[in-house]
Amino acid sequence: MSNTEVYKSGLLNRALDPATQPAEIRDFMQTEIALIRDVVGDGLTVIDVGCGTGRHLALLRDHVRLGIGVDYEHSYIVEAHQHGKAGRLHFVTGDATCLPLRARFDRAMCVTNTWGTMPDKPRVLAEMRRVAPKAGTRILSVFAETSIPARREWYRRFGHEVLEESPEYLVTDGGLRSEHFSEARLRAFVGECEIRRIGPVAYFVTF
Ligand SMILES: C[S@@+](CC[C@H](N)C(=O)[O-])C[C@H]1O[C@@H](n2cnc3c(N)ncnc32)[C@H](O)[C@@H]1O
Repeated sequence: MSNTEVYKSGLLNRALDPATQPAEIRDFMQTEIALIRDVVGDGLTVIDVGCGTGRHLALLRDHVRLGIGVDYEHSYIVEAHQHGKAGRLHFVTGDATCLPLRARFDRAMCVTNTWGTMPDKPRVLAEMRRVAPKAGTRILSVFAETSIPARREWYRRFGHEVLEESPEYLVTDGGLRSEHFSEARLRAFVGECEIRRIGPVAYFVTF
């Protein structure tokens, strides 16, 4: 099974249920929200790449001028539409490697290790650079190598036992493949960037 099929099976809603999340994962998600809020200032336009059901844009709804979420899993986009009622948020079914937009944005984000589940990482970075052309306006958040024990437990709680562990990824019996990063590996992919820790389990990258 590929990640595409894993997401189609509705994994995201189980993963976002706080009851499945070990404390380290919950803390990461809370801190991540504060960092996103800090970088996505009032009145800006923002695109969320791999937005899932749109929870980050929903939190930014009263602050942004325009928020667009893109995700290839159509059922998540249908769910995300409930956040779009205020008119500033819009959600589109599409692939991160070929974003279906010509517009340019003040900020582009791909967070909660979404990029770490995407096979063609360079292409996604290229698309983020295309839609948010200014350096320093693009955000990734990804898991660090130190996240492995907490992720094993999290995945187990939402029904995925880890079958394979390598220095770069975990694969579960349900087919989820999720990568983790060292600073050196991140820099090898992203090039010039600023890397900050998010607690013990993750990195927040601006490039
Ligand atoms: C880890 S989930 C996170 C979702 C959301 N960012 C959040 O934090 O709630 C990753 C999301 O990326 C989406 N995704 C994975 N690969 C994608 C791709 N190539 N193009 C668009 N969306 C993708 C999945 O469908 C899923 O919703």
